[in-house]
Amino acid sequence: MSEFVTVAKVEEIPPGTGKTVDVNGIWIALFNVDGAFYAVDNTCPHAGGPLGEGHLDGHVVECPWHGWKFNVCTGERSGNPNFTVECCQVRIEGHFVQVAPPANWK
Ligand code: FES
Repeated sequence: MSEFVTVAKVEEIPPGTGKTVDVNGIWIALFNVDGAFYAVDNTCPHAGGPLGEGHLDGHVVECPWHGWKFNVCTGERSGNPNFTVECCQVRIEGHFVQVAPPANWK
């Protein structure tokens, strides 16, 4: 069973931005979409680009390496849902953002 881990303060990630966080060696891309937080695997399925460093436009992040776009709410690639990134549970506890990476993530 996955456990929630505190990864950031809410105010560290303003709406419209993202951040890469390390949870026990697992890199997760965390985003604030108009006040709602979402988290996905940080590794782009194209060639491993860091999605947490990509530009966020609404609920879509653009990979900084070659421009693939992903819906951070569903993990689907825009225009081609055959490519996805896995989503991760997120919750807010007080002023902190917590994530719970699935147990099978490495
Ligand atoms: S590594 Fe993400 S688009 Fe190429």
